[in-house]
Amino acid sequence: MPLEINQVRASFFEALNNIKSLQELDELRVKFTGKKGDLTLLLRSLGKLPPDERRQAGQDVNNLRDEIENAIASMSKKIRDSENEKQEIQERIDITLPGRGRLSGAFHPVIQTMHEIANIMQGLGYSVASGPEIEEEFYNFECLNVPKWHPARDMQDTFYFPDGKLLRTHTSPVQIRSMLKYGAPLRIICPGKVYRRDNDTTHSPMFNQMEGLLIDKDVPFSQMKGTMSEMLNAFFGKSLKSRFRASYFPFTEPSMELDIECVECSGHDEHCRVCHGTGWLEVVGMGMVHPNVIRAGKIDPDEYNGFAFGIGLDRMAMLKYGISDLRLLFDGNVSYLNSCFNSGLEEVSC
Ligand code: DAH
Repeated sequence: MPLEINQVRASFFEALNNIKSLQELDELRVKFTGKKGDLTLLLRSLGKLPPDERRQAGQDVNNLRDEIENAIASMSKKIRDSENEKQEIQERIDITLPGRGRLSGAFHPVIQTMHEIANIMQGLGYSVASGPEIEEEFYNFECLNVPKWHPARDMQDTFYFPDGKLLRTHTSPVQIRSMLKYGAPLRIICPGKVYRRDNDTTHSPMFNQMEGLLIDKDVPFSQMKGTMSEMLNAFFGKSLKSRFRASYFPFTEPSMELDIECVECSGHDEHCRVCHGTGWLEVVGMGMVHPNVIRAGKIDPDEYNGFAFGIGLDRMAMLKYGISDLRLLFDGNVSYLNSCFNSGLEEVSC
């Protein structure tokens, strides 16, 4: 009998050494302590022993059972501990890893420019108005004092629809629509897309403008100049030299164009790619609103006057964000446009 006890012990511990999982351990437990297990058979065989051996053998078998149970319990703990550790290692968060890049959207430079100028103008009391892109000749030309013979009406410049409507060639028709809708006094801006039959390196058939209109009593010419200088300084974030040049637009009298000192070279580089050595950049067309236009807006020009302006938004965006070619604005090259962030574009996360 002692021999068998030793055999069972030896075979148990040999098997225990090869155990790798809780399932194998459980199988081992059944194999030794289960109903038909080696240890159970050993216990059952005790009855067959002569009484003088039985006591000692019984104690030995009980000791072996305790030994086996303890060994199983400690092996089970060992396996569980190592499985937990493995899982912990797998799930451990490495806080030294660099963060994952977060992709965020951004406004297109022209939209960004539009928002910036609109914010500045809203600060000066202007409201944002809008009008249709498919416009009637009446609003686009007639009411704006653009006579039938004016070259701007030419098929060469304007996209006409078969029914006589057209794609607005400027945002100026919104002047008339706003006067008719809101009357005087009035301060509006209207940003939006405009269309012309132009397509070369410096012209796109679709481009963006912002119209402005102020109608009130006794509006002085100096207010127009001050408003425009204020807007430009706020937009570019510095006080730029500017000059007002006499010009001609049918809807204003007198008319002017506003040039600003070249943002690239300030007039110091005769080979400058932005101003071509002139030192000046043309950015806004404006003037005191022609009485005929005020009248077309059903406001009395003897009582009210005002000024209007048209800003080329694409040009302004190019100047502020250092974009050298107009076509880059419309090519939809996202990585190029993203690089404009370096020049201060505002990011939006969605
Ligand atoms: N509508 C003009 C254009 O497209 C720009 C412009 C000039 C608008 C003078 C105005 C203005 O309101 O007063 O070229």
